Amino acid sequence: MADKALGRGGRKSEKDLKIRVKTAKGRKVSSTKWLERQLNDPYVARARAQGMRSRAAFKIKEIDDKHKLFKKGARVVDLGAAPGGWSQVAAAAVGSTDAHPLVVGIDYLQMDPIPGVVLLQKDFTEDDAPQMLVDALGGHKADVVMSDMAWPTTGHRPTDHLRIVQLVELAAYFAIDVLAPGGAFVAKVFQGGTEHELLHHLKRHFRSTFHVKPPASRQDSAETYLVAKGFKGKDDVGDGEE
Ligand SMILES: C[S@@+](CC[C@H](N)C(=O)[O-])C[C@H]1O[C@@H](n2cnc3c(N)ncnc32)[C@H](O)[C@@H]1O
Repeated sequence: MADKALGRGGRKSEKDLKIRVKTAKGRKVSSTKWLERQLNDPYVARARAQGMRSRAAFKIKEIDDKHKLFKKGARVVDLGAAPGGWSQVAAAAVGSTDAHPLVVGIDYLQMDPIPGVVLLQKDFTEDDAPQMLVDALGGHKADVVMSDMAWPTTGHRPTDHLRIVQLVELAAYFAIDVLAPGGAFVAKVFQGGTEHELLHHLKRHFRSTFHVKPPASRQDSAETYLVAKGFKGKDDVGDGEE
């Protein structure tokens, strides 16, 4: 009887192995679906096995595998860092330690400490946030500025779109202010990619720009990542370009 659930050759098929979650009293259908997806997500299992704070950690790992962002000794700023997966990946890759921290993360959510990472609990859109990050870098320029920030959605598409565009723009202008020549900027953007004007601006300041959808980013998610590499330096954008 037990063989009934097995596919051909006695091996369970992926469908058979899927964990199904029954609806429970008081739980919304959307929550049940979310739980089922989490339980069946191989990245969630890998994140847990490897002590990663989030499955999102694999997105930046995959982006780094392709674009070689994190060099040993590089300084990294992580915007929208909670719960901390990206910071963990960056700290390990650049060799950051508590004695000599190279990674600074910011989020308005409280976070548990991460070895080698200076964490600020702060809304990045507040006026004094950029200066606090600059101070945390201890007077050094950054080599990578990365942003996985996204506001919670309101359900009103035009509003959500504007809010996301605003976050990406703020992150991009901050990156242009604090990056060392040769540095890189990575940011989560949505659906239509990066706003035309912003992309144009970034193309002036960076030698190359890409849109990347890492395999760990769910196919049904509208998110994609903008990667800008080879920062030219704040003032070195060529004649008449600014
Ligand atoms: C997708 S999560 C980041 C996950 C993270 N990369 C990781 O691997 O753990 C997005 C984060 O952005 C943060 N965020 C959104 N807007 C922000 C803002 N204005 N200032 C600071 N953090 C913000 C949210 O609180 C949330 O924790």
